[in-house]
Amino acid sequence: MAQRPYIVGNWKMNGNRAMLSEARAIDRAAQRHMKTEVAIAPPYTLIHAVHREAEQIAVGAQDCHPGEEGAHTGDISATMLADAGAKFVILGHSERRTAHAESNELVREKAESVLAAGMRVIMCCGEDEKTRDAGKAEKFVLGQLRASLPEFQNAAEQLTVAYEPIWAIGTGKTATVEDIEAMHKAIRGLLVELFGEEQGGEVRILYGGSVKPENAREILGAAEVGGALVGGASLTADSFMGIALAAG
Ligand code: G3H
Repeated sequence: MAQRPYIVGNWKMNGNRAMLSEARAIDRAAQRHMKTEVAIAPPYTLIHAVHREAEQIAVGAQDCHPGEEGAHTGDISATMLADAGAKFVILGHSERRTAHAESNELVREKAESVLAAGMRVIMCCGEDEKTRDAGKAEKFVLGQLRASLPEFQNAAEQLTVAYEPIWAIGTGKTATVEDIEAMHKAIRGLLVELFGEEQGGEVRILYGGSVKPENAREILGAAEVGGALVGGASLTADSFMGIALAAG
């Protein structure tokens, strides 16, 4: 059975308690638009507050430590996030792979801890501009995914993949629909190889990178695009729900 389009807001390092009003507005709008599954990943400091207030949308986190507890100053474990109300964790975002030198192996360990804590994984992948210009984008992205994904009991339910070309993040540039479709089809092929036709065929593949209300309909209408991972345009309810409305 085809899943609903999935629109996820990644607030990154933005948002204080005043932004809870945007989360409330997103939640109210999502209650009126059930055709699309809507979720937000605010900073750690807001997860519990959003969880307490939201009736329709799911709240998630943007990262976690792979361990369960212990002497890791400043880190947060998957079990702590689940306790705060998180239902999913975004992992392997290029901003973490780059700024925190996260390897595929570390990302995979984190994913295992998220599954053990009973949450879903949104696994990010994407190439930089140099790799795309060299014609190696597909090989790179599939290799990154293959090395970052753990085993799943039920991949269709527990996994979402987010394809985000690094050069399109926060730049206003988006990949062409043809390039998005080609990459998403290649990712689908890998998911079917890893998890079988039934499970791998149902995993939603999101596109991320400068998605806005103005370009959402075209991007979300592309083959194999199951939704969007939205950064900047998820920070206000109006623009974020503009994208969600374009999804279905
Ligand atoms: O996680 C979200 C992506 O990095 C996209 O960010 O919509 O600001 O380009 P953006």
